[in-house]
Amino acid sequence: MADERPAVKIRIEDLAVRYSDGTESLHGITLDIYAHQVNVLFGPSGGGKSTLLRTLNRLNDLADVASQQGRVLLDGEDILAADYDIIQLRRRLGIVFARPVPLPMSVYENITYGLTLAGIKDREQLDSAVERALLQAALWDEVADRLTESAYALSGGQQQRLCLARSLALQPEVIMLDEPTSGLDPISTFKVEQTLQQLKKDYTILIVPHSVQQAARIADWAAFFLQGELVEWGSGHELFTAPQDTRTEQYITGRFG
Ligand SMILES: Nc1ncnc2c1ncn2[C@@H]1O[C@H](COP(=O)(O)OP(=O)(O)OP(=O)(O)O)[C@@H](O)[C@H]1O
Ligand SMILES: [Mg+2]
Repeated sequence: MADERPAVKIRIEDLAVRYSDGTESLHGITLDIYAHQVNVLFGPSGGGKSTLLRTLNRLNDLADVASQQGRVLLDGEDILAADYDIIQLRRRLGIVFARPVPLPMSVYENITYGLTLAGIKDREQLDSAVERALLQAALWDEVADRLTESAYALSGGQQQRLCLARSLALQPEVIMLDEPTSGLDPISTFKVEQTLQQLKKDYTILIVPHSVQQAARIADWAAFFLQGELVEWGSGHELFTAPQDTRTEQYITGRFG
């Protein structure tokens, strides 16, 4: 394993999550998420990847979770602590889901929505935030003259990048993406993948890709989850060329799905 490791943004220590129906979805997960890197969580369905993202954003607080053990340190602070400010947390960790869900309003308003809620009213400030977010999401060229159109008039791939832009406009520190390209055509998928490479300069990326191939293409760091267990993790290059565990090897070579 490479010795040179980037700074740790999120440290997950011995995290276990159990749903109220008895399913233990994550068992004793210990994993670091590196700053300004593309960190990938991958593995077969039901492995606990989405559960982990939801835990990081404290969305599990709303779900059927019976117990949560361990610690999740964001810049050293335990975000699972009962008194941790969840609003602040969700501002720092943006999340983009598999299916783009634009708000029923214009392209422009989709991006300014969160900012206006946060009390920003200055038109110039909003305009520049919109342009910046759309540029970062690699969507500006396609929608610069369509800002007043309904977001629903955009293609699926554009809607997904719009949702990414909406999240970026709030200037989070970490962007979590749960299979963001699962419904997209190859060209849109390629654009989103390229965008990630740009975004990591400014953000920490934590992504669940939609396939092993995509995981291998984009991962700076990769973690392989199987039935709630973290089988192994390390640099993307090493994990996809020389996996340590036979289960990882079997999965990445397509011997089970
Ligand atoms: N709300 C819930 N209540 C009970 N069990 C749940 C709940 N959500 C998820 N689970 C269970 O937790 C386990 C992990 O699910 P999770 O959605 O985290 O997996 P995943 O790795 O994201 O899978 P996929 O690749 O299909 O998205 C599964 O066994 C799932 O059935
Ligand atoms: Mg999932």
